Amino acid sequence: MQTTTSATPAVGHTTLDEVLRHPEGHRILTGDRPTGPLHLGHYFGTLKNRVDLQAAGVELLLVVADYQTLTDRDRADRPAEAAEDLVLDYLAAGVDPARATVFTHSSVPALNQLMLPFLSLVSVAELSRNPTVKDEIAHSSQAAVSGLMFTYPVHQAADILFCKADLVPVGRDQLPHLEVTRTIARRFNERYATELFPVPRPLLSDAPLLLGTDGGKMSKSRGNAIPLGATEDRTAKLIRSATTDASRHISYDPEARPGVSGLLRLAALCQDRDPAAVAAEIGDGGAAALKKHVTEAVNEYLRPIRARRAELAEDRTLLRTVLTEGAERANALADATLAEVRHAMGMR
Ligand code: TRP
Repeated sequence: MQTTTSATPAVGHTTLDEVLRHPEGHRILTGDRPTGPLHLGHYFGTLKNRVDLQAAGVELLLVVADYQTLTDRDRADRPAEAAEDLVLDYLAAGVDPARATVFTHSSVPALNQLMLPFLSLVSVAELSRNPTVKDEIAHSSQAAVSGLMFTYPVHQAADILFCKADLVPVGRDQLPHLEVTRTIARRFNERYATELFPVPRPLLSDAPLLLGTDGGKMSKSRGNAIPLGATEDRTAKLIRSATTDASRHISYDPEARPGVSGLLRLAALCQDRDPAAVAAEIGDGGAAALKKHVTEAVNEYLRPIRARRAELAEDRTLLRTVLTEGAERANALADATLAEVRHAMGMR
């Protein structure tokens, strides 16, 4: 499979292969905002890695970041259902609920209590500099920027530090947040002369960025994404609408032909092949043959995931149970960490 990354890796970043070779002793925490169905970009960018890591024996915690959805909107839209839907996508993709801890922000009050001392460890200037937050503010449709927008990276630090995760699988856009978490861990340890918090490292996906059907980054807000749970017909329709170009000869050239190359990469990921080999097979077939090939590759790849998803969707009590049990375990961990934090700070 083609695995190129152009950007330079962050300091201390770990590769998936390294962890898969030595899975023992790691605890991984990551998560998503419950703002809509997960799509193929999520799947190949991070979801599949989580499942592979879990299969290798790494401990996995997943936060359904329901409070964090309030950063760029006034109200969360049906947050309880949205949280369950996210769990549905997780389980369909292969997360094993018997071994993973899946929980919502709102079910773990100690996260909010950890946020307060953590806020005391960062300056307003540092919070205002965060490039991911700046970008979100620039794209927000809200009239006013809320205090939560500036401070949610500190809440996210609590997500990661409450369970003392050592690795955080994230996309590159999340690296500034992880830097905030690392700073807070270091400063807490220093200020209170303790070794309470390990300084977590990012685990970057080496999958190439998956392009959406318009040639841009696949993202639900751009309307160019293929949801994991889409029907086969809908998938065909979405791929048929994808942007390509006029040349009948299909070749893999991400710079000059982003649309065609994005589709080739999608088929290649689904078939664990090289995109150039897929291109060679289609040859002079043009965009129609390419799209037919990609549709079949995607639908075939997603068939077992979709079958599992449909089965799970029939009875949502399991989804609720996963969140209830996840909350129980997360609360136990978070309460214990909060007690340690209070102790380190000299409080009783
Ligand atoms: N900010 C992440 C996103 O928008 C979601 C998230 C919340 C997260 N808490 C986290 C990711 C902790 C990694 C670790 O997708």
